[in-house]
This record gives sequence, structure tokens and C-alpha cells, in this order.
Amino acid sequence: MIKTWRLDDARQTLALAARDGRCPEVVYWGAPLPQDEDLCALAAVTQLDVTGGMLDQNPDLSICPEAARSFPGQPGIIVRREDGTPLLPQFTLADDALQDNSLKIVCADLLNSLTYTAVFALDPQTHVIAMTAQLDCDRPLHLHWLAAPVLPGAQSSDEMVDFAGRWCGEFQMNRTPWSAGIRYRENRTGRTGHEHFPGLMVPCRGATNTSGEAFAFHYGWSGGHRMIAEELPDGRRQIQFGHAARMETAPARSFSTAPLYAVYSSDGLNGCAVSFQRHLRDRIVPWTNAEAPRPVHYNCWEAVYFDHNLDTLRDIATRAAGLGAERFVLDDGWFGRRDDDTSSLSDWEVDPRKYPDGLGPLIDHVHGAGMSFGIWFEPEMINPDSNLHRAHPDWALGAEDQILGRQQKALNMALPEVRAFLYDRIAALLRAHPIDYIKWDHNRVLPMPDAAQTRGSYALLDQLRADFPQVEIESCASGGGRIDFGILSRTQRVWLSDSNDALERLHIQHNAALFLPAAVTGSHVGPRRCHTSGRTLDITFRAWVAAQRHMGFEMDPRELDVREEAVLRDVTAWWKDNRHWMMRADILRLDAPDASVVAEQQLAQDGARFVVFAGRAATAAQIAPRPLRLTRLDPAARYEVQLRNRAEASHLSRGHLALKDGPVKLTGAALMHSGLVLPWSFPETMWVLEGRKL
Ligand code: DGJ
Repeated sequence: MIKTWRLDDARQTLALAARDGRCPEVVYWGAPLPQDEDLCALAAVTQLDVTGGMLDQNPDLSICPEAARSFPGQPGIIVRREDGTPLLPQFTLADDALQDNSLKIVCADLLNSLTYTAVFALDPQTHVIAMTAQLDCDRPLHLHWLAAPVLPGAQSSDEMVDFAGRWCGEFQMNRTPWSAGIRYRENRTGRTGHEHFPGLMVPCRGATNTSGEAFAFHYGWSGGHRMIAEELPDGRRQIQFGHAARMETAPARSFSTAPLYAVYSSDGLNGCAVSFQRHLRDRIVPWTNAEAPRPVHYNCWEAVYFDHNLDTLRDIATRAAGLGAERFVLDDGWFGRRDDDTSSLSDWEVDPRKYPDGLGPLIDHVHGAGMSFGIWFEPEMINPDSNLHRAHPDWALGAEDQILGRQQKALNMALPEVRAFLYDRIAALLRAHPIDYIKWDHNRVLPMPDAAQTRGSYALLDQLRADFPQVEIESCASGGGRIDFGILSRTQRVWLSDSNDALERLHIQHNAALFLPAAVTGSHVGPRRCHTSGRTLDITFRAWVAAQRHMGFEMDPRELDVREEAVLRDVTAWWKDNRHWMMRADILRLDAPDASVVAEQQLAQDGARFVVFAGRAATAAQIAPRPLRLTRLDPAARYEVQLRNRAEASHLSRGHLALKDGPVKLTGAALMHSGLVLPWSFPETMWVLEGRKL
């Protein structure tokens, strides 16, 4: 007997089937099936044959594969009794509920008193399916592994793409061919990490950014994930995501996964990217005021580091405001005796040596210059050289002789007294001053993975957000070390990278856009000579790269010459004129035929306008630029397209290109199928093309 369910939207169908009362399998996920499709017949025809060297029946690749049913791959649950006895769950379907766009499946293992509950919620607007799994028992258990509902990996895919990275080099795409065995990613650092963004893309054969079928996954949890992409000996493929294994340090009666967000696209990686961008922006991020424009930031870190001087900061603030900044963020160095990174984390009191009259005078000045005020904290951290550590060494997480990270330890966020202490200190500052922004840093990994730590951080964030709903929070962890939909359900911005090198950023932003919309992605114009790469880049390139996302400045404005100031003012003014639609636009990665060009098109939600940023990351192999084809335009409509920064054309571009003279008018079909030839340009420059539907 086969029981079936389906979830549908305009883009996709997800179909599940339970055979003979067992735990259901996903039997189909892809382009929409007709409403009258016979799902029992579909389940029957998708069943594998049995031949030599196999069991007499193929074990189900269910949403929770069971070792006890001879499943030949990684199981969905690994669990033990409190006394250490391993349990091998064997589930039968106990209950199900299909309502609107959500499906709940309940399975029971009566012998072991276990209940497994899976929930699938399909958002018909964003096309994201959010899935969670929960395991309950009548007595405490030790959990080793619990996968979010398990999905089959596409058979028509040759490779998968997951994400690696490093400090100042986040979101590097790793391509791995499917082959027998497991592609296994596990982050055991206790923090999302630069190295382990919890995402996976599975492009089907021939898929590009702009066309073809693709599947994508993101695990929304900040404590470190485990991903298993496995090809079984029989050829089937499974994809599992969950918390890193053995993160639950105590036995409990109930365990849940974080949401696994999954997307199917029939129009390339961009279909997945746009779904994630919209879902994150419109469903997950708790905006304090969704209608308010995203303010231009100024962050003082790379201008002064720990060397805080009131007069200098006032001067910098005045200049930043003159360039167009609307929010001033006071970074690390304002508290304790924090003259370098060796001391004072957790002593969250204003340093009277640097601010004899408190923060009031600086905040008043910033407000007087027309900017709002934000401030840096690193709440989860403690330096051994701090008053708090001297008073409560037991509040630090991990062994006393642990290896420090940036001379610091993590606080044990599972302890209510630690959270209460941090809440009091942060709340005191927020109550004392008109502060509307916190940059919330987390600069080291944990001494060991521990889910209770992540839950503790979430609880503190939730409590502060409830009591200070007007305060925005930016998630930073040495740049992009804590970026995921879990932290972003509590924050409004991420510091994508500590690299303010526009060339590095061009790549990092391009890849991060597979998941992140512009509105949450901080991007700052850095110093002329980049502090983290030593590279010297022209202000035009630095400014345009920052203008691709949520724009800000981070250099010392006193270093800018007259031309640099003028360029920065101009690009910032342009960004302000366009942010109302750009911060809600879809970021579409373009398939540039020239490997040295990193190009994207930001398309307004109503399709009426777009901007293309074509960054030349290196010199090209061939002499002249190749045409760049646009995407997702209305083929029949006409567009007026103009090169916004044509004045930046180099003298080495000698041809008579129409785009250098002014706007051109072409149909969407021509722009998408023929494309545009941009003027020859130096490496480390950006062309900015503006388009309007006529
Ligand atoms: C790491 C962050 O990524 C930087 O932007 C800065 O805030 C420093 N920490 C401050 O210590």
C-alpha cells in the first residue's frame, strides 16, 4: 500500500510516498506535475530494480533513513540510551497533516518509544521549502546525529558546489564531482565560520547562472553544521544537513534540527539565489523599520583602531557626514582599558581615559552631524586580562589551559548568570544613550562544539531585541564568520568580510549573493592602500564595489584627496538615489564569457529598471572585451541603457562605441541574446550600466 502527499507552487512539486506504512520518501522534487498526476504510479515507477549483489528489496531512502532497515548509507538518526546502549530506530507512519502549504509527518518507533516529526513548509512566493525534524522520547537520550528531513540528490547532476573560505576570503565555491561515497562537510568550531558556510548547490547537467535546473540548500544554524552528500552503491543520492554531530552534550527527551531551507530552480543558479535573497529579506530578517532607507554607514575601525581620541573622532565624523554617511559606528576600543586586543573584553564600561565625560559628547556630535550612532560589542567573549575574568574565571567556556584565540576565551552562554550579566551591561548603555545600532562581533571559534552555547547566544539576542526593538544588529565574526539564516533571524546586517579590498570583495559579494540580498550585506569603501591585502586601488573601483551592496565607508576620511572626495560623494549620492529599489532588487549573476569579468545585474522587483555592475578583475586573455548578455528582461520590451560612469573610460579605449556617447535603446531580446560590448578597461575597474524599461 502506498500513501502519498504533495506540496505545490507555480515553480515546483514536492511529492512524498510512504510504502506499507513505513517512513515516507521524497519520490519527486522538481518542475510542477499536473494536479491529477497519479503519485502512487509515480512512486511505483521510481522504485529501483533488484539484481545480483543486492538485498531482495531496496531499503527506502526515506526522510529519515533507518540503519535498522538495512539502509546502505548514512542514517538520519544516531542515538543512544542514557546508559550508552545504541538505539536503532525503525519507524512506522503514525500521523500526517497536510494544510495549506505545509505538511507534517509523524512516525513512531513503539519499541523504543521514539517519535520522529518532520515538517515541510513551502512558501509559494519565494519558492523556498523550510524543513525541520524533531525527535522525542519518553526518557532522556544521548543524541549523536539528527538530520533535517533527508532529500534525494539529483540524478542528472554531475557535480555539487559547497562553500569554503578564510578570513578575508569568504564564500569560495568548491566544485566536487558526484562519485561513489560521501562528500562530507562538518564544522566543529561551534561558530558558522568563514570556512564552512552551511550551503550546497546542486546544478543539473549544463546549468549556468542563468539557465538550467538547479537545487540549493542552506542550514539556518549558527553553531556549526554537518552536511552529507552521499552516492549509494545502488546509484541513489541523498543529502543530509543537521547540527554538527555530538553537539548536544547532555541527555534530553526532545531534540530538533534548525530549518533546512531548500530551493528548486528551473532557471539556473539565479533561480535559487533570488529565492534565498527574497526569503531572507522578506521572511526572515526582523527589520526594525522595513520602509526606512538603509543608511550609509561610517565605521571607524580602519581609521583609528584602538586609538580613540574624542577630537579626532569628531573630526572624522564631520567629514564622513560630509561625504554622505548617515550612521556612525564606534568600533572596538571604547571600553575597559582596551588599547589593543589583549585585554578588557567583557568589561563593558566606557573607558574614562578616552571618554572622560562618557560617550555623550561623541554621540551628540554625531547626531549634530545628522548621523545616527552605533556601537561595537563582542558579548560572547572574555579576555583573561579583564575584571570579569578575575571575578568569575568559571564563566569562561572550556579548559583553563585552552588555546586562546585573539587572546580571548568564549563565555559560557548556557549559564543564565552570564546572559544576565551581559544583558545588564548592554542594556545599561542602550538605556543611557540614543544608540540604534550594535555591531555584534564574535572573533574566535569555541573550544568545542556545543549547541547550548548557540542557544544561549540566541536567547541573549532575543531578549535584547524584545526590549530594544528599535536597535539594529549587525552580525560580525572577524568579518563573515557568522553568516547564516539562524543569526539573520535576529539581526539585520552581516559584515561580509574584513577585507575592504574591492577586488577581493567583488568575488566574495558575487558568491555570497547566491544566498544574501543586498539589503543585509555590508560593503565599505576602505583605505586607498588596503590594510588586509596591501593592494592599492583607485577610489572609483572601491566606491562602485561598495555601492553594489549596503554601502558604507571605513577609511580615515582625512586621507582622501579632493578627487577622491568628489568621486565618493558622487557615487554615494548615486547610491542614495537608487537604494529605494536596489535594496529590494534581485541580484542576478551574469554568465560573463570573459573569465576576468565578474558581472551581475540587479533587477528591480517590478522589472522596470536594472543596473549592471561589470567588474574587471584581471586583464583579459583576448584583446577586446566580449559582449555581456543580460538576463530576465522582457524580450519584447525596449530598454534605454546607459553607461553611468562612461567618463571613466580609459584613453586606451579608442573605438567609437555607442555606449561611450550616451544611452542606447534595445529590446530585452537583443540585450539577452546578443548582449552589449563594454569599452576596453583597465583591470580593477567597474562599468556601471543603468537600464530602464521604456
Ligand atoms: C573584527 C571585525 O571584523 C572588525 O571589523 C573589527 O570590528 C574588529 N573585530 C574589532 O576588534
